[in-house]
Amino acid sequence: MDHYCVLGNPVEHSKSPAIHARFAALTGQVMDYRKQLAPLDGFAATLQQWLDNGGRGCNVTVPFKFEAFQRADTASERAQLAQAANTLKFDDEGHVAADNTDGIGLVNDIQHNAGLSLAGRDLLLIGAGGAAAGVLAPLLAAGPRRLVVVNRTPAKAMDLVARHASHPALQHLLQKTELLAQDLQGLEADFDVIINATASSLDGGAIPVHARVLKPGALAYDMMYGAAAQGFADWARAHGAVPRDGLGMLVEQAAESFLFWRGVRPPSAQVLQELRQALS
Ligand code: ATR
Repeated sequence: MDHYCVLGNPVEHSKSPAIHARFAALTGQVMDYRKQLAPLDGFAATLQQWLDNGGRGCNVTVPFKFEAFQRADTASERAQLAQAANTLKFDDEGHVAADNTDGIGLVNDIQHNAGLSLAGRDLLLIGAGGAAAGVLAPLLAAGPRRLVVVNRTPAKAMDLVARHASHPALQHLLQKTELLAQDLQGLEADFDVIINATASSLDGGAIPVHARVLKPGALAYDMMYGAAAQGFADWARAHGAVPRDGLGMLVEQAAESFLFWRGVRPPSAQVLQELRQALS
């Protein structure tokens, strides 16, 4: 039996064990997957213990994604661009390989589950922390016409954009996408898709952008789900946009992690549908 876990703090409300158990059942993979709380100052030690006990890999969640990337021996290009990892895979020699599946999870949820192609669209990414960094390169790879990053602290958005704009591996993508950082206040344009990658709803903050950014019928995506996504969804609906929460991103990032570990793609759309039903 191969063992996996999700390492985080807090981790008790994680839906990842249920999602991966369902993936394993539907694909016939023999594995188990559980939650593992790590002390805030004890990520490295908890990970090492997991490795020593024969674990094959883990997901990593808040607040350890940066530490996970730093601990890894090798990292995928998208993990390098994010400078963060949500997925680690261990081989027999104890070598740790990192990936970041958050961004492709977001893109797959929008394009496959919500049925909206991002190619040629105008996209607004709100936020410049870990969550935003994890999705910027995969959003670029989807080929939008324009990808604008805004943040409460503008310098962080500028840094994030500059790091991507100067990366050799992204130059071919930047030929078809205009990538830029802008001030929140200066935003005038209409966007087809806006993505909330901020923590503003968690600390009860206001919606961080003006409603004029929304084209009629725009997709307003919040990476949060459940109660934390409600305020943003209500705001989007009130301004003629179509809200979508991050539950699909959660399932799709898990599917990419599962593929990375097991070499098998699970039926993620089915599991998302089941999860939505269970939660409603
Ligand atoms: P995460 O890993 O979830 O991205 P983070 O790295 O701490 O967490 O980043 C949090 C993001 O939410 C940042 O973009 C932050 O803006 P600042 O860079 O200005 O701090 C944003 N954020 C948090 N609270 C916010 C609020 N009340 N209004 C607007 N943006 C907020």
